[in-house]
Amino acid sequence: MELLWISFMRAQVIKMLHLLVVVALLSPVGGESRKVRILDSFEYSAISCRAHSGSITEFGGVGDGKTSNTKAFHDAINQLSRYASDGGAQLYVPAGKWLTGSFNVISHFTLYLHKDAVILASQDMTEWPALKPLPSYGRGRDAPAGRFTSLIFGTNLTDVIITGDNGTIDGQGAFWWQQFHKKKLKYTRPYLIELMFSDNIQISNLTLLNSPSWNVHPVYSSTILIQGITIIAPLTSPNTDGINPDSCTNTRIEDCYIVSGDDCVAVKSGWDEYGIQFGMPTKQLIIRRLTCISPYSATIALGSEMSGGIQDVRAEDITAIHTESGVRIKTARGRGGYVKDIYVKGMKLHTMKWVFWMTGNYGSHADNHYDPNALPVIQGINYRDIVAENVSMAARLEGISGDPFTGICISNTTIGMAAKAKKVPWTCADIAGITSGVTPRPCDLLPDQGPQKITACNFPTEKLPIDLVEFKKCTYQMNYM
Ligand SMILES: *[C@@H]1O[C@H](CO)[C@@H](O)[C@H](O)[C@H]1NC(C)=O
Ligand SMILES: *[C@@H]1O[C@H](CO)[C@@H](O)[C@H](O)[C@H]1NC(C)=O
Ligand SMILES: *[C@@H]1O[C@H](CO)[C@@H](O)[C@H](O)[C@H]1NC(C)=O
Ligand SMILES: *[C@@H]1O[C@H](CO)[C@@H](O)[C@H](O)[C@H]1NC(C)=O
Ligand SMILES: *[C@@H]1O[C@H](CO)[C@@H](O)[C@H](O)[C@H]1NC(C)=O
Repeated sequence: MELLWISFMRAQVIKMLHLLVVVALLSPVGGESRKVRILDSFEYSAISCRAHSGSITEFGGVGDGKTSNTKAFHDAINQLSRYASDGGAQLYVPAGKWLTGSFNVISHFTLYLHKDAVILASQDMTEWPALKPLPSYGRGRDAPAGRFTSLIFGTNLTDVIITGDNGTIDGQGAFWWQQFHKKKLKYTRPYLIELMFSDNIQISNLTLLNSPSWNVHPVYSSTILIQGITIIAPLTSPNTDGINPDSCTNTRIEDCYIVSGDDCVAVKSGWDEYGIQFGMPTKQLIIRRLTCISPYSATIALGSEMSGGIQDVRAEDITAIHTESGVRIKTARGRGGYVKDIYVKGMKLHTMKWVFWMTGNYGSHADNHYDPNALPVIQGINYRDIVAENVSMAARLEGISGDPFTGICISNTTIGMAAKAKKVPWTCADIAGITSGVTPRPCDLLPDQGPQKITACNFPTEKLPIDLVEFKKCTYQMNYM
């Protein structure tokens, strides 16, 4: 028996009984297994607990940072898949450095990283199979052909958890950034985590380092909890967006700390004619308690790929220290789609170019087949309770001529200008809306309604379904070597 099969029971089982079960299972097995004697009990919060658990070491995993574990991850997940309809399974990654190429997760599955576990992304391109471009994008972003499968990938799944005691996933991105800058890539760079056509997803309590490109990409998915994620990449690394909900419904992003070379959160829904045709919006998105550092990008970006529509985004309690802008809307003629019912409440911003930035001529098209008459609708954009310091320009709001951005509301906002601020703090064109209690004095297209309207900008009070999802306490008994 090469593989050590330990089918762990759940918390409820008495520890003593459990110990006996494990020892009984282990005793008939040969040499190596005798080392496996230490029992460890640990606990964490998750949307579902699993009836079975195994460690990557039981499937040939070697955590030396050099040996490829691609096969071990594939074998482990393949074996654990037999429990999908029998209470689900957890794959435990202990302390160590686990080099691997991309691997696929499955339904009713938890990947759990010990606090000193590091999953290291392989730099051997043969360990990254290619996928077709996303249907809502029509082409890859780095190259027109396919895209490298993300390090941790899943499609058409339900009930998937990727979590840990703040364990690490290190994309070793420098290699990919170099290939990108040298224009040597045949396919679009991989992301760290991508789940497609899936629901009931939890991604929590992890540290993600140096992604080759985007970090977390839920796409065509729903009921998604992303919590307690630390994302770190060099400030100049290309396209290292933090979290990109893309054509997703009912998503909650909370307590994340992101330092990166691109937008900390980038909300998307497909690109030009491909996104219009696919027609899948991102809606019912909550972003709370986000801290962002990204000097050349936005704290929260809506677009530029927004052709399936973006609606009902609620951002609250946002802190940004040295970013280019706060909440930025990026779109263009040819995008079609919409960005509407956007609510932002409570931002503390320090050192940035523009607090408010809307761009109607972002350009950057998938190809030349976009329809220039496909105009985006930008409507109902609400910002309130904002304090910003050391800002170069309060706002740069540029709609599309003949297609103004309307229903903009900004209230209770105090912007402290930098010593070297621009002389005119607001530039506005092709927009319409109101303000109240905003300093410095806004542009004429956003007339001041007087201080009594200071709470004028809406922020919905009724909860979204994702707010009702609750965590359970899961307890596991685990042996390790
Ligand atoms: C994340 O970790 C914190 C403590 O570090 C814990 O309170 C919380 O329950 C964890 N949440 C999830 C969803 O893993
Ligand atoms: C995944 O789901 C999508 C949408 O329902 C479907 O079009 C696609 O064929 C499915 N793919 C697989 C591999 O089952
Ligand atoms: C997780 O680890 C990162 C990187 O070491 C650290 O910055 C962060 O504070 C840790 N988060 C928690 C909740 O311990
Ligand atoms: C204005 O915003 C501040 C936070 O910046 C908040 O404490 C205060 O309650 C807000 N005022 C009103 C009237 O909502
Ligand atoms: C203010 O912003 C400028 C960049 O515009 C930066 O160089 C400077 O360090 C910031 N000052 C403070 C006090 O953060």
